[in-house]
Amino acid sequence: MSGCERIMADIESLKQITDGRGTTRVGFTETYRKGSDCFRKSMEQAGLKVREDSIGNLYGLLEGEDKDAPVILSGSHLDTVINAGAYDGIAGAVCALEAARMIKDNGVKLRHSYEVIATNEEEGTGFRQSLLGSMFVTGDLTEDDTDKFRNVEGKTLKEVLPGFRAKDAVPALRSKDEVKAFLELHIEQGPVLETAGKDIGIVSSITAIAWMTVTITGFAGHAGTVPMPLRQDPMTGACRLIDTISAHTLENYANTAVLTVGRFGLEPGSSNTIPAKCVFTIDLRSEQMEIVQILIDYIRKTAAEVAEKFKLEIDVNLESLRDPISMDLGLRGLIRQSCDELGYSSHEMFSGAGHDAMIFAKQWPTAMIFIPCYRGISHSPDEYVEPEAIIKGAKVLYETILKVDKQ
Ligand code: HGY
Ligand code: MN
Ligand code: MN
Repeated sequence: MSGCERIMADIESLKQITDGRGTTRVGFTETYRKGSDCFRKSMEQAGLKVREDSIGNLYGLLEGEDKDAPVILSGSHLDTVINAGAYDGIAGAVCALEAARMIKDNGVKLRHSYEVIATNEEEGTGFRQSLLGSMFVTGDLTEDDTDKFRNVEGKTLKEVLPGFRAKDAVPALRSKDEVKAFLELHIEQGPVLETAGKDIGIVSSITAIAWMTVTITGFAGHAGTVPMPLRQDPMTGACRLIDTISAHTLENYANTAVLTVGRFGLEPGSSNTIPAKCVFTIDLRSEQMEIVQILIDYIRKTAAEVAEKFKLEIDVNLESLRDPISMDLGLRGLIRQSCDELGYSSHEMFSGAGHDAMIFAKQWPTAMIFIPCYRGISHSPDEYVEPEAIIKGAKVLYETILKVDKQ
C-alpha cells in the first residue's frame, strides 16, 4: 500500500468505531477504548513499541540511536465531539504514525527516538475539561484532580478511571527534558487554506479559550395558570442573557472574539410546565486574553442584571480558562523549509481552534501543521479532507522530523 492508502485505511477503520452519531468517540468510554485499541494495533503492526499512560494517552516509540537524547514527539487526539467527522485529531495521530512508517521504509536512522502520541479527552466532551489528557502529561493536572471532574452521568473521573485504565498503564507525567519538540498535524477546521488555495498552514499562535456553565434557577409552575407578570421563568432569563451577550460580542468584537452556546437544557422539560431550571454552556475565544477577560466580566454583569429583572438566581461558573500561546519560531521555520523543498505553498495563520499543542507548547518547543479541509467544515460528519492534501501534510511532517533530528 502507498503512504496515502495506509493513511486513508487507518482513518477509515477509526471512522467505523463510533457510538452511532457521525463519528462519536467520547473520552474514557467503551467506544473510545475500541478506537484506542484499533490505533494501538496499527502502531504495533508498524513495529512501534506501544504503551498507554494512566489517563489513556497512547504512545508508539521508534527508537533512535541515542537512547539518552530527548524524543521527537508527534500526534494529536483520538477522542471526538458528539456527531463529529473522521479527521479532527485523527488525521494528526494517523499522519504521525505514517511518518514513523516512512522513517522505517526509507531506512532512516534517527539520532533522537521518535514517538507517536494519541491523546485522550482533548475535546472535553466527557468531563467538560478540554485538553485533559495532555494536561496530565505536562503535570497541569494530576491524580489529585481526578475527583474534580464529573461526566454527564455525574460520575467523577476518579470513579471512571479504574474501569477504563489499561492494566499495564505507565505514569502520564513527562518531564521538560524528555521531549525535544512536539509537532501536531491537524485539519484547519476553517475555510482559510481552501479559499486561499494553499497546501499547508503554519500556525503562528492558538486562541485563548474560556468555558463557562450558566445555571439559572426560577420557580416552576403550571403553564396555564400562572399569569405572566407573576412568573420567575429561567427560560426567559436565559434568552435575554444569551441574546444580550451575543449581540454585545457581535457589535463590539466581531473580528476579535467568538461566543458560542453549544449545550442548552431545561428542567423538568415538559411542554406544559414553566421550567424550574435552565443550564447552558458558553465557549468564549479570542487571540487576546484581555478581550476574553472583558467579556467574562460583561457576562457576569449582565447575568446579575437579568437575575434582578426576572427575579431569578443565576450562577456563572468559569469551568476552564486556557491562555493563548505562540508556536515555536524555529520549528515554524523548519516546517516552511520543508514546504518549500517539497514545492508546497504555505500560509502562516492563527488557530481559532484549541489543540493539544497549546498545552505542550508551555513545556516543549511546539509547532502545528494545518491541512485544508472541505469548506472548512468540522465537528460534523461532513468533515472531509482530500487524500492528496493529507499525504502532503504527512510528507511535510516527515521532512520536518528529519530536520529537527539534525538540530
Ligand atoms: O474546541 C476546540 O477548539 C477543539 O476542537 N478541541
Ligand atoms: Mn475538535
Ligand atoms: Mn482537534
